[in-house]
Amino acid sequence: MQAGGIGASAASRSRFRSFLKPLSSKKGSKDKKTLYDVRMEATTIAGMKVSRIGLGTWAIGGLDWGAVPDDVALSTCLGALARGINLIDTAPIYGHGRAEEIVGRAIRAHGRREDFFIATKTGLEWNERGVFSNSTAARLRQELEDSLRRLGTDFIDLYQVHWPDPLVPINETAALLDGFRREGKVRALGVSNFSVAQMEEFSAAAPLASNQPPYNLFERQIECGACGENLLFWCAAHEVAVLTWSTLCRSLLGGRVTRETKFDAGDIRSADPKFQPPRFSQYLAALERLTAFARERYGKTLPQLAVRWVLDRIGVSVALWGARRPDQLDAVAGAVGWELDTAAMAEINRIVNEAIPDPIGPEYLAPKVREG
Ligand SMILES: NC(=O)c1ccc[n+]([C@@H]2O[C@H](COP(=O)([O-])OP(=O)(O)OC[C@H]3O[C@@H](n4cnc5c(N)ncnc54)[C@H](OP(=O)(O)O)[C@@H]3O)[C@@H](O)[C@H]2O)c1
Repeated sequence: MQAGGIGASAASRSRFRSFLKPLSSKKGSKDKKTLYDVRMEATTIAGMKVSRIGLGTWAIGGLDWGAVPDDVALSTCLGALARGINLIDTAPIYGHGRAEEIVGRAIRAHGRREDFFIATKTGLEWNERGVFSNSTAARLRQELEDSLRRLGTDFIDLYQVHWPDPLVPINETAALLDGFRREGKVRALGVSNFSVAQMEEFSAAAPLASNQPPYNLFERQIECGACGENLLFWCAAHEVAVLTWSTLCRSLLGGRVTRETKFDAGDIRSADPKFQPPRFSQYLAALERLTAFARERYGKTLPQLAVRWVLDRIGVSVALWGARRPDQLDAVAGAVGWELDTAAMAEINRIVNEAIPDPIGPEYLAPKVREG
């Protein structure tokens, strides 16, 4: 799909344009100052205040993006909090439990559970044959207890179905999760990678707070679903928050990728068709032009432009920023507190459409359907 034209409306901007107060240090600590620029925009999910940039913890799981030492992974979570990011997105599949454990350690190290908004997921299983959707009741009950244990908490702020499971009716999954919510183990329910039709089915059975789809400058499939519908418009109209995954297109929009960039065999990006010829050259050409545009027009870096672009789209509540080292979050402050105008949105569309005649999405990341 070619990049088309929706931009932020005045209504969506005014709804989101507010700033979180700086997070104070741990209770009892003498040092009440923070070392970081904590400018941050805020929104609400199911009535809870969250930062509009969320930390993505897939990479710190350490299995799919190369190893990340424990202390670095922990500092990344604490560094996010120090920079005004309270929403941390994680999942059991990230490092097969390790990312959730690291987030749990960060909560304990910080000392105040209420300073975090923890979004985790359910409904994927893995074995030596791969990763499969599994939303059976037994699986979801087990995963909830496992996630609470790893995170070291007695509730999850946002519990998201990671991928739809075609073998389990969505209304049954929604009703089961709603039971978890009524038990107090989960505060709000979300989905991820769900279409508009699947969200309609879910929300008929339980209150739906959010969806988490892939969305970035290069992956805009959600703007035109199977029936031509725009998922962002539907979510805006139904007050369902959107948390975007791969906002930096799995580092392609991070500003460090060149023609020479290579990923190890186990790295998830080694299988990404964007990094293969002939498409890689197209994406590199777009990166060069977008980098120049960000610098000349706004004095910003490529990742700051890419994240700002997502934040300024109608319907987007939170942009997830994947990081595996705390210094990768230094650029966060420069992504908030400004906005792209209509002319800039149009110019970005023009660059992307001209440079990438043959775009491709992140379909290669979808889990398998298990047998029966
Ligand atoms: N629901 C789902 O199905 C789903 C799927 C995918 C992701 N997610 C969620 O969305 C989050 C974000 O997506 P993502 O992790 O796929 O990727 P992403 O945010 O698009 O990209 C993350 C990568 O960009 C690079 N990067 C980050 N900050 C940078 C900076 N300041 N300068 C240069 N490069 C920078 C890093 O890669 P290098 O260190 O290699 O440079 C980092 O690992 C995930 O962590 C996860 O929480 C959800």
